[in-house]
Amino acid sequence: MGLWRPSIHCLAAASLLFGGTDAVLRQELLAQRRSQQSEVLKADPPTPYPEQFYSEQILDHFNKSDGRRYAQRYFTNFDHYKPGGPIILNIGGEGPLDEGSVSGHLSNVLFAKELGGAAVAVEHRFYGKSQPFDSLATEHLSYLASRQALADLAGFQEQGSGQTVILV
Ligand SMILES: *[C@@H]1O[C@H](CO)[C@@H](O)[C@H](O)[C@H]1NC(C)=O
Repeated sequence: MGLWRPSIHCLAAASLLFGGTDAVLRQELLAQRRSQQSEVLKADPPTPYPEQFYSEQILDHFNKSDGRRYAQRYFTNFDHYKPGGPIILNIGGEGPLDEGSVSGHLSNVLFAKELGGAAVAVEHRFYGKSQPFDSLATEHLSYLASRQALADLAGFQEQGSGQTVILV
């Protein structure tokens, strides 16, 4: 359609006035509705569990003189949280996380519901948006190690200000 996009109401009124062009108008109406629906589907729905970043994560946990840090992504769901409740921490594997890691029917959410806790998920270093470097050059990959990733979790837990943390 050109610059002037008739509203559905205009089209419906026109359709009443000019009965003969009904089929064409109906086609246009359908096309318009379809394009509106696809616009709705394209828009990012707002999420109650937006991504967050722990920007003080240590890059090398085994070299105290290396002060480099990176931003590790995580998600939280406090829907069922009662003060003093545990943190149910979902450990991200070798892949990106999204808000689905603290919503839906995952075990961290089910436990949080039962125990009045918070469901939290931490992304694994070097996956998704938890990138310590902007390239995967060989010299950077020495920091992609399971003992570093485990130490990341320990570092992250310390931010929980003494609350019970349950890993799932
Ligand atoms: C530890 O970090 C320091 C400072 O970045 C660096 O000079 C040194 O080579 C590192 N040591 C090891 C064993 O990686």
